[in-house]
Amino acid sequence: MAETKKNATLTLDGKSYDLPVFSPTLGPDVLDIRKLYGQADVFTFDPGFTSTASCESAITYIDGDKGELLHRGYSIEELAEHSHYLEVCYLLLYGELPTAAQLTDFEQRVTRHTMVHEQMHNFFRGFRRDAHPMATMVGVVGAMSAFYHDSTDINDPWQREVAAIRMIAKLPTIAAMAYKYSIGQPFVYPKNSLDYAGNFLHMCFAIPAEDYVVNPILAKAMDRIMMLHADHEQNASTSTVRLAGSSGANPFACIAAGIACLWGPAHGGANQACLEMLKEIGTVDRIPEFVAKAKDKDSGFRLMGFGHRVYKNFDPRATVMKESADEVLGLLGVENNPLLQVAKELERIALSDEYFISKKLYPNVDFYSGIILEAMGFPTSMFTPIFAISRTVGWISQWKEMIGDKGQKIGRPRQLYIGEPHRAYVDVRNR
Ligand code: SDX
Repeated sequence: MAETKKNATLTLDGKSYDLPVFSPTLGPDVLDIRKLYGQADVFTFDPGFTSTASCESAITYIDGDKGELLHRGYSIEELAEHSHYLEVCYLLLYGELPTAAQLTDFEQRVTRHTMVHEQMHNFFRGFRRDAHPMATMVGVVGAMSAFYHDSTDINDPWQREVAAIRMIAKLPTIAAMAYKYSIGQPFVYPKNSLDYAGNFLHMCFAIPAEDYVVNPILAKAMDRIMMLHADHEQNASTSTVRLAGSSGANPFACIAAGIACLWGPAHGGANQACLEMLKEIGTVDRIPEFVAKAKDKDSGFRLMGFGHRVYKNFDPRATVMKESADEVLGLLGVENNPLLQVAKELERIALSDEYFISKKLYPNVDFYSGIILEAMGFPTSMFTPIFAISRTVGWISQWKEMIGDKGQKIGRPRQLYIGEPHRAYVDVRNR
């Protein structure tokens, strides 16, 4: 538990209430209001949780003003340059960078869990072919609790560990199966000889009729995209996983809830919405029309991939993603990709516009990711499933941290009630 070095005082109706103030390792001080309702018979009001710390955590730290993102103290820039996705998974799950032996053991454990129960293939056949892969993933991941009973007891640390490995290992297989099913191609089994990102590309793009060789450029780019999406403090889907987990729900059900929340266009669905927006803009000369629409409150239109609840500076992931987009498209010989040109010009125009400057709206992680994914051959409908694969380790790490906290309680917010006061029933003949 963080230390309290001072108190804040709340004065209400002539009475004073002491609120302990926690001093975190990094970030703003935190007022402890847990006893406020009991002492002062008042609630606090914060519908979007803009000023609320929902938990204690040691996993990820974000400084929105500096545009800083740390995983267990290591910057996302350093991890993107020197690490790889499964090493970041280990770091998020266990708190330290692994030794060579620990990393080899971890990668082997994940690799050996990449297949799914053969009967799970039947689930896919119940969906329409044109179902959005996110719908399939919510259903199939939730159904994992029907197959892996031996890792659903949240009170057993070993079962929690097995559930974590199973989900990190099987999400790419399930996402690839959702993709294959949507295009009418046969499922491709995982290959233990491939690395994590390469295995996912193989399961998505290999076909029985010919050999498929993983392009190392694309595998490295996919691994970097996965690293950049791995965890992000208490975002909407992570908060969903924590809230679901606080009731004691099994880990597969909690991750399925996180996938459902991630799907929204204000959150993980923004990568798909952003590429569709860039395609709708089409050419650089149409950008002013869309920027004007984004500034018009009545239009209901927002620039997808722009803005963030926490970052009021560049999202550091967007900066790395933009460099990766230049590198990958250049290596693929499509550096003149019109969508990349539109995205760069849109960023330039928006960042010089007073509306975006005053509201501190910058490109976020979803602004450039779709351009790389499309260049790899993915349809836009697979963008958010790829985000879900990547974020599973973050959800699981945060879930484990919460479940392992002896003081954790079921999440149960209160409300500001503005409905009718108590009133008597009126018979229908008198209404
Ligand atoms: C992710 O939380 C996380 O960490 C999420 C994430 C993660 O890794 O988990 O980082 C991943 O979800 C990234 C965000 C992806 N979403 C989008 O790109 C969708 C477009 N962006 C927005 O809808 C918006 O910026 C949010 C949802 C991301 C943040 O919304 P907030 O913090 O609630 O901010 P807001 O809606 O109160 O906006 C503040 C102002 C408003 O204007 P005013 O009412 O003050 O006049 O900025 C405006 C908004 O209208 N605004 C935008 C805008 N985003 C905010 N105007 C135009 N275009 C935009 N994109």
